[in-house]
Amino acid sequence: MKNEFLIDLNDRESSWIYPIVVKTPDGRIGEEQSTILMGEGPNRIFCVTDSIMHAIPEGTDPDSSAMAHEHRFGYETFFCDSGKMYLYIDGKKCLVKEGDILHLQAGQAHGMAFLEDMKYRGFFHDMDIIGDAQAVNNLRTYMQVDYNDSEFAKARGGNDFIVRERPLFQEVPAEEVSAVRHPDRPLAEYRLDGVTMKVLIQRWENAGVCELCCAEMEPGFTAEWVKFPRHRDLLYVRSGQVRFTVYNEEFTAKAGCLVNIPKFAPHSLVALTKAQVYDVGGQTYWASFLHDYFSIKTYDPERFNKSGTIEELKEKFGCQIKTIGKAG
Ligand SMILES: [Fe+2]
Repeated sequence: MKNEFLIDLNDRESSWIYPIVVKTPDGRIGEEQSTILMGEGPNRIFCVTDSIMHAIPEGTDPDSSAMAHEHRFGYETFFCDSGKMYLYIDGKKCLVKEGDILHLQAGQAHGMAFLEDMKYRGFFHDMDIIGDAQAVNNLRTYMQVDYNDSEFAKARGGNDFIVRERPLFQEVPAEEVSAVRHPDRPLAEYRLDGVTMKVLIQRWENAGVCELCCAEMEPGFTAEWVKFPRHRDLLYVRSGQVRFTVYNEEFTAKAGCLVNIPKFAPHSLVALTKAQVYDVGGQTYWASFLHDYFSIKTYDPERFNKSGTIEELKEKFGCQIKTIGKAG
C-alpha cells in the first residue's frame, strides 16, 4: 500500500493530481504539468508542482523561444532534475543543467528555452496561478474544456502571468547568475556530526516566508524530531535513500520522493546511503539557527556547553529536531 506521507514523483500515476498540458503559441506541447500539493495558509506555502518541460524543436533559435514572463506576486523555486536549458534573467543568459536550482522572485522577469526535456520540480509560495488547479480541473472534468481553448486562455490570461518581450542579454556562466543555485556553491555551509547543512536560499529572498536548506547526510545519520512538532515538514530527497518513521509508519524515500509530514506527527529518519534531503517546506529558521549555534560555539564555548543554551536557541529559531547522531 502506498504510504500517504510518501509522494514519489517518479510514479506519475499516483503522485500527479490535476495534470495539464500547456501548448506553446505554435501549437506544440511545451509543458506537461501537474499539481502535487495545493499549498496552505495565507502564503500558500507547501505548494508543489511537477513538470516535464519539453525541448524546443531541433534547429529552433533558443533566444527567440524563451517565452519570457513575470509574475507580480509569488516566489518560485525549481529543482532541475534532468536535461538542459537556457535561462534568461536579469539581463543575462546562462546554461542551466541537471542539479541546478532556480529561485525566481516576484517581479523578476524570466525566460527559459529547453534544449532537452527537463524534469522541473516547482516549490512555491504566494503564487496566484497554482490556486486555480482545482477549478481548471473541474472545467475539464464536467465540461471537457481543453486547457488551451482560446476563450479559456483569455480567462486564464487574467491570472498573474505577464508576458514579456524577447529578452536582451549578455551570456555568462550559471555561477554568475544569482537566481541559479547549486549545492556545490551554498550561501553558507555548516558541518555537524554525520551531516553537512547548506543554506541555498535565504529567508529574505522569499519575503520572509520560508528558506531553502539542504542536509547532506552520511550513511547511518539519524535525526529525531521533538515528540509533537509544531509545524508541518515537507522534505525532498534528491539523492540517496532515507528510512523515515512517521507516527508508527515506516517507509523508505529514495531520490525524487517528497516526504509530507503533518504537524504534530512524531517522526524520525535514518540515512541508508549518502543522501541529499532538502527542507522544501522551509519553516525552520535554519540559516539563523546554524549561524548562531556556530557563533556561540566559536566565541563563547563555556555558554555553548551550559545546559539549556542550545535548547533555547532551537526554540528561538523553530528547530524541531531533538537529537541527531549516527546509527549502529
Ligand atoms: Fe514563471
